[in-house]
Amino acid sequence: MADNGKREQWNSRWGLILAMAGNAIGLGNFLRFPVQAAENGGGAYMIPYFVSLLVLGVPLMWIEWGIGRYGGSLGHGTTPGMFDALWKNRAAKYVGILGIFLPLVVLVYYIYICSWTLAFSIFSLFGSYPHPEAGVQALSTAAYLAPYQRYLGDYIGQTTSGAIMSPTPLAYLFFIITLGMGMWILGKGVSKGIEILNKIAIPLLFVFGLVLFVRVLSMSSPTNPDYTAQAGLSFLWEPNLTGLFSAKTWLAAAGQVFFTLSLGMGAIVTYASYMKKDDDIALSGLTAASLNEFAEVIIGSTIALTAAVIFFGLDGARDISHGGAFKLGFISMPAIFTHISYGQFFGFLWFMLLFFAGITSVVALAQPAIAFLEDELGWSRKRSVIALAVFFFGSAHLPMLVSGALDEMDFWAGTFGLVVLAFFEVMIFFWIFGSSNAWEEMQRGAQIKIPKFFFYIMKYVTPVFIAAILMAWTYEQLPGVLAKGDGGIWITRGFLALLLLVHLWLVRVAWKRRRL
Ligand code: PHE
Repeated sequence: MADNGKREQWNSRWGLILAMAGNAIGLGNFLRFPVQAAENGGGAYMIPYFVSLLVLGVPLMWIEWGIGRYGGSLGHGTTPGMFDALWKNRAAKYVGILGIFLPLVVLVYYIYICSWTLAFSIFSLFGSYPHPEAGVQALSTAAYLAPYQRYLGDYIGQTTSGAIMSPTPLAYLFFIITLGMGMWILGKGVSKGIEILNKIAIPLLFVFGLVLFVRVLSMSSPTNPDYTAQAGLSFLWEPNLTGLFSAKTWLAAAGQVFFTLSLGMGAIVTYASYMKKDDDIALSGLTAASLNEFAEVIIGSTIALTAAVIFFGLDGARDISHGGAFKLGFISMPAIFTHISYGQFFGFLWFMLLFFAGITSVVALAQPAIAFLEDELGWSRKRSVIALAVFFFGSAHLPMLVSGALDEMDFWAGTFGLVVLAFFEVMIFFWIFGSSNAWEEMQRGAQIKIPKFFFYIMKYVTPVFIAAILMAWTYEQLPGVLAKGDGGIWITRGFLALLLLVHLWLVRVAWKRRRL
């Protein structure tokens, strides 16, 4: 319970929609999406992506809003309480642990990356990243990017031996600032902290995004007149049916839809739990999802990817994407900005945009744990926030110091775990609570009618699709992941197992107390 004994609520409908948009719009939109698209053949990726959005993304969005609002009306802000209310089974609350555990694990590394964006926005403003003597015309892509690569590597303290990293004091400082800001906002609460943050940050993010969008589209290539914005756009937007027949492309597209919309994490249900009982779900949920998609496929895909095509050509851009999201965002972009006029300013806009996208997702990832401590253990908000701050401060050292920890956490929580939780959500809501109950729950107070065809999608297509993804991952990726196993990986797995046990124990304690 909140400090006054009553659960908090959003202040306004737009506040709720912007908070939900801020929850979904994150580093995933601007860094992960362009890399995924380029890696999976651009136009070949987009058809599976849009199909996944239609049969997975949008239906799950409504389902999570429905589960969340229902749980909130009973005083539960997280999935242990929600599943327990929907499914009269002793196991329900334990399954629900995922809705607190997964966002916590993602946040352990997400908050650190978010702090890089803040740092790099300031480095841009002061023009402190490298300015190579020889221009981009004179060097190969790899040679031109090398100093920027070193700059990022030095900042996060990558060493040649690899296993242990030693971040610079500056990286440490920015991590602490970012953590402090996140916790400060969370300490102010849902409507006075999270809602206000999003009301400011999300409109600004769109303004910055549109400015960069226009700037990139009007860029001409310093290296080759054939490298045009149009070439970048058609790479992504010329439909190509080959992706339809590739399991890998479908997995990548579906995984991205989950990640970008914050689905299967527990983050959306927690935000929805602060709605009023009869607030609209259908239109608001769709609006928040649409804002996310606009930020992703229009703004996000265009900025980093098209800029890379203009500077380094299609092959160069593909190579860069192959190096991962950090290479595209933190190496290629600064390299481009040092080359255009007012580049310091545009670089600042780019990293500030990333920072706004990141920090609004940071609070979304942390709120489930806070809601659990408040709702189920009766802690005050202040106590919950302090406990979390201590936890993050400690555990973030893992991805900060141990190389490989970040990827390991990202696989278990950010790729695999969320599909598992989403599967339980659909099954519990549509098959155990009952499809007509679920449908009615989602439609109550609705300002648009959800087409009946979604009823059948949610009941049959979504769960089958999710089960297929799970099976494909289990057979294709799990063996590879499990085969990895150096010291750092095992430390990470030990940490995850321990954290899971703590969750089990806390849920047990909470439910024992309730029976007294
Ligand atoms: N959707 C966010 C992004 O695109 C990440 C996120 C996942 C945030 C789950 C909250 C919960 O970066």
